[in-house]
Amino acid sequence: MNRTPELTRLLEHLDFSVTPQHSVSHSARSLVAAGFESVDFGRLDALPDRGFIADRGLLIGWRRGAKSHGFRIVGAHTDSPGLRLKPSPSSTAHGWRQLNVEVYGGILNNSWLDRDLGVAGVVVLDDGTSRLIRSSRPIARIPQLAVHLDREVNDRGLVLDRQQHLAPIWGLDGGSSAGVIEWLAIDAGIDPSRIRTWDLGLFDVTAAALLGADEELLASGRIDNQVSCWAAIDGLIASPDGPSTAVVALFDHEEVGSESTTGAAGPRLEWILEALHNGPSSDLHTRYADSLCVSADCAHSVHPNYPERHDPAHRPLPNKGPVVKINANQRYATDSASAAAFIELCDRAGVPHQFFVSRNNMPCGSTIGPITATRLGIPTVDVGAAQLSMHSARELCGSSDPAMLSSALREHFSS
Ligand code: CO
Repeated sequence: MNRTPELTRLLEHLDFSVTPQHSVSHSARSLVAAGFESVDFGRLDALPDRGFIADRGLLIGWRRGAKSHGFRIVGAHTDSPGLRLKPSPSSTAHGWRQLNVEVYGGILNNSWLDRDLGVAGVVVLDDGTSRLIRSSRPIARIPQLAVHLDREVNDRGLVLDRQQHLAPIWGLDGGSSAGVIEWLAIDAGIDPSRIRTWDLGLFDVTAAALLGADEELLASGRIDNQVSCWAAIDGLIASPDGPSTAVVALFDHEEVGSESTTGAAGPRLEWILEALHNGPSSDLHTRYADSLCVSADCAHSVHPNYPERHDPAHRPLPNKGPVVKINANQRYATDSASAAAFIELCDRAGVPHQFFVSRNNMPCGSTIGPITATRLGIPTVDVGAAQLSMHSARELCGSSDPAMLSSALREHFSS
């Protein structure tokens, strides 16, 4: 299969975006290259026509349209479940050096075992500035107990205590005298004494890969939700100017409920929409009602080994186009009108679409759609690429779906 330019850009995005801050940094670089101006919250009174604000794990970008039209918003999230370094980041036990980690979000515990792990994120220096860092090589691993010492594991299943059994090793006691933060600082060319605090997490160093005889599958960490972040930014950059104001909102902290300054439940998207509107709030509310938010987050493909986990009539598959997610109990914000609007975008882009509804006897996940819809009163549709292994350290999706999602979003931005 010929690798398309879109797929090349997506693989680059996945490999770079090992933390929310890295994802934002990569998207910011793409936007700058496309002529979008980077501004900060001090400039809300005079936003440029094409710009973006990036703050830690949050990025909001826009292209201003006519005041008489609504907003065409795409929301997605920059975070993925994983393991984060605690403030006291390492300790020794039984002759080993181990990292002290905190579980972030709903990880599949077992998926983090026996992987070569790097450390990445942000460090705050003594002058208050932040630096993005990423270890130049893997330094840690969570080894699974040998089957000889756990004879019943294959029959009884693997049970891991999140405090006891997920502590990575990163060497032997009595080895190098550098602590893990000191090691990372030196590795990144920073004077270790300058580091005050950090947001650092572990990541699988394995690069994204195309699988299958025809390379129709894509394996990577953080498919949920870097695929949507990439599709949103790539779609915005590729979209021709339209009458509406196009907005991409990439939020942090979706995996832990979105309630933070940089999460979807925070006020920042609203600040920027108000600033872009720059007029009476009654007009702004009229514009909100005339807007559409596409909340893009991955969906569950049917798993061939567990087909019974899906509703028999709603079984999304990879490479069959974006999945429109429906939940009558409003765990998804989609309604018939917003679904129809999105399907029209797919039709215009020439891409198929499919539907997901969860089984009545299984709880349904949620995403940022209902949160932004509730906050702003903007009609919203929840969509996303079908995938397997959601929240694993390494997930799987179709290699054609990301570009199809991006094409539909491109139509959205220009409509
Ligand atoms: Co997600």
